[in-house]
Amino acid sequence: MRDLLRVTDLSPDELASCLRLAARCKRSPTLGRGIFADKALALVFQKPSVRTRVSFEVAAVQLGGTAIYLGPDDIQLNHREPVQDVARTLSRYVGGIVVRTFGHEDAEAFAQWASVPVINGLSALHHPCQAVADALTIHERFGRLRGVTVAYVGDGNNVLHSLMEVCGMLGAHLRVATPPRYRPDRALWTEGVARAKRHGATLVWYDDPRDAARGAQVLYTDVWASMGQEHERAVRVKIFRPFQINAGLLKLAARDVIVLHCLPAHRGEEVTGEVVEGPRSVVFDQAENRLHAQKALLMMVLGAKR
Ligand code: CP
Ligand code: NVA
Repeated sequence: MRDLLRVTDLSPDELASCLRLAARCKRSPTLGRGIFADKALALVFQKPSVRTRVSFEVAAVQLGGTAIYLGPDDIQLNHREPVQDVARTLSRYVGGIVVRTFGHEDAEAFAQWASVPVINGLSALHHPCQAVADALTIHERFGRLRGVTVAYVGDGNNVLHSLMEVCGMLGAHLRVATPPRYRPDRALWTEGVARAKRHGATLVWYDDPRDAARGAQVLYTDVWASMGQEHERAVRVKIFRPFQINAGLLKLAARDVIVLHCLPAHRGEEVTGEVVEGPRSVVFDQAENRLHAQKALLMMVLGAKR
C-alpha cells in the first residue's frame, strides 16, 4: 500500500489486518515504538481539526518520530504554491504526509506528486481515517462487523462515503437516511451498492430516518453543514430537522444500539445533547480510536512508497 486516499485503497484483507493491529496498539500503547525514529510526518491542513491533527501528532511521537503541522496560512495551497511543488518539496524532508483538503482532487494531486505516502485526513469526498476508527469502535462493541446493521442519518457527505466503503468491505449492512437532495455522491453510491452485494451485505437508502433506525445496532450521524458549507447552514438546518438523532429515534433502534458521531457535534441539530451525553453514546471511545487506528495505518504505510 502506498497512499490512503479512500478506504478502498486498502484491500479487504489489509483493512482487516489494520483493525487487528489497531486493537493491538490499543492494548499495548508501546507497540511500534521506534519504527518511525528520526522521521517526520507533515500535516498539511486547509481546514480546522482537533481529532485528526492531535491523534496523528501523538501517533507520530509514540512511534518515535515527530509531526509538523502546516495550517492554511502556512502553505496557502494553490495560492502561494501549487500542490505539485509542495508535495515534492515535503517529500525531501518527511516520511509521510497527511492532507486535509477542500477538493478531493487536491489530495489526489498530493499522492501523485509526493514520493512518500500520502494519507487523506479528510477531503470533500472521503474521510478514510475516520471510517477505520469507526469500524474499530463497532468491532469492539459487537465483536464483528459482518451482519451488524448500521443506520446513518443526516447528510450524504465525506464521512458517509467512507462509512459506505468500510461497511461494504467488512460485510456490515448500512441503511442511509438523507433528505432526497442530500443523498451521497451518485457514482460512489452505485459502487457502494455493488461492493456491499459482493461482500454479502446491503446498502439501502431511506427517505424516512425512522425506517432506517428501526432495529439498528449502530446509529451514526455527522454535522448537517460540513467545513466549507457554513454559508448553507441556515437552509440546511430547516431541511434536515427531521433527520436528528434524538430520544424518539433511539427508541426505535435495537436495545444494545450504540450511537456514533465523528465529532464535532452540534447539539440540538443533528443530535440532541441528551443522546450524545447518554448511555448509548460511545463518541469519545470512537474519538480515542482515531489514535489507535492511525498508528496502525502509519505502521502499514510508512516506508511503503518508492
Ligand atoms: N472527526 C474529525 O475528523 O475531527 P476533526 O475535524 O476535529 O479532526
Ligand atoms: N463532514 C464533516 C466532518 C468533520 C470531521 C466535515 O467535512 O466538516
